[in-house]
Amino acid sequence: MHYFTNQFSTAVFSCLFAVLFTSVFAIAEDPAAWSANPDLVKKLSAKRSFNYDESKVPDYQLPDPLTMIDGTKVSSAQQWMTKRRPELLEQFRHLVYGRRPDTEYQVTFETTEEIENAFDGLANGRSMKAIITIDQRTYSFPFVVFTPNHATGKTPAVVAINNRYFIPLDKAVSEPDPYWPVKTLLQQGYASATFYTSHVDPDNKNDYADGIRAFFADGKPPTDDAWRSLSAWGWGASRVLDYLSTLPTVDANRVAVVGHSRGGKAAIWAAAEDERFAIAYSNNSGCGGAALSRRGYGETVKQITTVFPHWFTPQFAEYADRENELPIDQHETIALVAPRAVYVTSSDEDLWADPRGEYASLVAAAPVFELLGKTAIDEPTMPPLNRQRIVGQTGYHVRSGGHGLGQVDWDFFVEFMDSVLK
Ligand code: GCU
Repeated sequence: MHYFTNQFSTAVFSCLFAVLFTSVFAIAEDPAAWSANPDLVKKLSAKRSFNYDESKVPDYQLPDPLTMIDGTKVSSAQQWMTKRRPELLEQFRHLVYGRRPDTEYQVTFETTEEIENAFDGLANGRSMKAIITIDQRTYSFPFVVFTPNHATGKTPAVVAINNRYFIPLDKAVSEPDPYWPVKTLLQQGYASATFYTSHVDPDNKNDYADGIRAFFADGKPPTDDAWRSLSAWGWGASRVLDYLSTLPTVDANRVAVVGHSRGGKAAIWAAAEDERFAIAYSNNSGCGGAALSRRGYGETVKQITTVFPHWFTPQFAEYADRENELPIDQHETIALVAPRAVYVTSSDEDLWADPRGEYASLVAAAPVFELLGKTAIDEPTMPPLNRQRIVGQTGYHVRSGGHGLGQVDWDFFVEFMDSVLK
């Protein structure tokens, strides 16, 4: 008995010791939640008259995505999908991105070039043209597609909105590009397509006449409510999805739309407008993208609507310096994508895009995912640098380095896609 007691207490003691030791060790090992580098904050604050100081973020209260305009609390998934979601979508159209035209049009696709067995037989590639026809008039924009050759069954796919340049077919094969790592995507079993934003709608406030918006409006200037460039780019992603849906090898129910920065703003909105997208990935999208406008951290509504008036309706500009009065905020664009999946990412040095505001926005959308029977990140503390966090339908990481989209981001994103789609 004595022997047993002794043995028992030794066992308890070593257990306790082990628990204590591992937790102390874990605390010591566990890196801290991300926060902005104080030296960088100081440097940026000295240089520009925007707020980078967390202590100067104003007090704000976010609009509750689950409260209707008339004050009714949304309590069922059905109420969200049939009442609240359409109402919120309309608010964002009017206040932020504009309303897409309801003019009837046809879209057809033309193959202009083909490469068989690219990447050592991994995939076939095609240069495509999307041709939009209204009456006798046409508008077209190019895109490039690769589909894997040896997939068993239909593959999921990625539509990459590229706001920097166009990647032609031959270049996609010969030069790996961080904005479209198509070979890696194919190796992971994803078909992929890309297009250049300015081919759909020129990214220049003076070039309206040359884009798809003017084409739809038959040359007339945009009304206050009409769609702006971010929405037009998202619309372009939907036309590429139209094409992917015609391919027998692609599973159109498992297509992600991806964009960086202004392309990331367009990606969330693309998925808000088009419920066929299974995932929206918004990388470093900041103001008018994932970041909460009310924080007034980094880029502001005033700044963005002044420099890029063609991205937003004039209504958004009216909230310059009074973000708190906006009836909506950006967490609700993420909520519009629910119950589908959303991946948001930030960069350590990209304070212009407000990493904390991007993360907080994702968390503030969680109640909508939860009402719809899904799980989502609802942990208010940010994850440490370079540590991915995935909970059900949402995922996030903040990567070291500056504004940009790189292999690390894609690798994390593929993990997220795999967990949601496979
Ligand atoms: C500018 C702009 C941002 C945008 C970025 C980009 O910095 O202010 O809102 O996201 O360009 O698209 O790279």
